[in-house]
Amino acid sequence: MESRRILLAISGGIAAYKAPELVRTLRRAGHEVRCAMTPEAARFVSSLALQAVSGETVRSDLFDAGEEGEIDHIGLADWADLIVVAPCTANLLAKMAHGLADDLVTAVLLATKAPVLVAPAMNVNMWSHPATQTNLEILRGRGIRFVGPDSGELACGWEGLGRMSDPGVIAEAAAIELVPETLAGQVVLVTAGGTAEPIDAVRSVTNRSSGKMGFAIASEAARRGADVVLIAGVTSLETPHGVRRVDVQSALEMRDAVFAEFEAASIVVKAAAVADFRPIEASDRKIKKEQLDEGASMTLELVQNPDILQEICSRKENRTIVGFAAESHDVVAAAQRKLARKGCDLIVANDISRADAGFEVDENAVLFVWPSGEVEELPLLPKTGVAAQLFDRIGKLRDSGDS
Ligand code: CTP
Repeated sequence: MESRRILLAISGGIAAYKAPELVRTLRRAGHEVRCAMTPEAARFVSSLALQAVSGETVRSDLFDAGEEGEIDHIGLADWADLIVVAPCTANLLAKMAHGLADDLVTAVLLATKAPVLVAPAMNVNMWSHPATQTNLEILRGRGIRFVGPDSGELACGWEGLGRMSDPGVIAEAAAIELVPETLAGQVVLVTAGGTAEPIDAVRSVTNRSSGKMGFAIASEAARRGADVVLIAGVTSLETPHGVRRVDVQSALEMRDAVFAEFEAASIVVKAAAVADFRPIEASDRKIKKEQLDEGASMTLELVQNPDILQEICSRKENRTIVGFAAESHDVVAAAQRKLARKGCDLIVANDISRADAGFEVDENAVLFVWPSGEVEELPLLPKTGVAAQLFDRIGKLRDSGDS
């Protein structure tokens, strides 16, 4: 990876002692690193150590005339390609969420336009406190990214979530944040979540899709600079930063929404779990038991929904279209048949019989199934990692002109 400028912002938690190791890891990856610390951080790590490993003056005072002469806090905010906040205490997280700027670190964080990656570190109860969790949601909504915290023994004697991630893991997360905006100027259309097919005014036929995979894909496309439209079925997830969201319920609504956005799109990823069937008619009133004889059974007649993926593939032109395949057995063969039937450029297949991957969880183990017959098996990865791998492949496909 090319050398980039990383500002490491360090706040006053015990994990600050790992900051010099993080600086070394980032520098070993070829980056230029500067450090800024809060006044409290200086109690846990020496600025001399940070200066030695970074090869740069360490900044901590907002109003130090000597330091300001070198590069002021706005200059520092503008200098960075990425700001990594590690460790980030509950206090700093709260200040960031509310826009406080009462020291150098918070002033830089308020002034910067660079992406920000946060590695929280705190006591487990501080982490799970509703105030901290609300602050996290606020920051996530603004596009701030998080790595960790990990679970384990904490410096305060408690066990649980709150340990700062290891420097190696933070450096890997930083590398992901520094991905170039290769999708600038492209419109990416993503569908996510399950559809719900109405039975009556309160009931529907749906499935267990959480939407996490499709949301991670939308978020990754936005990070790579695309204009992203996310057509979301049934899900409780927050809209990723920088993404335009259209909510739908049924497969027919999803089809309409997809066709409304399809013309402008150059890349389409259909991660939604579309219900294949819908009740033949939906009552607009609640169906009452008293309408039936005592103990009587009820038959729900279903009709097939249109296959949205197959329809858009028939109008593909020079778009890249990716489908998903959720399979419980014979995964590769079933995905290959699906790819041939629907005519897309790539199928991302997952084995839904695995408990550790796929539906509802944060990880996924997928196979990329190509029209050439090639099958790539990816290891178990966070869904964000699967999304990154997917766009790396889409990029190559578009560069080669094969889609
Ligand atoms: N899909 C779609 N419209 C449908 C059904 C599926 O666009 N009515 C898309 C999904 O978004 C996914 C792909 O087709 O990208 C495969 O979905 P999946 O449910 O795995 O397969 P089905 O086509 O429904 O086939 P089957 O249920 O037989 O596995």
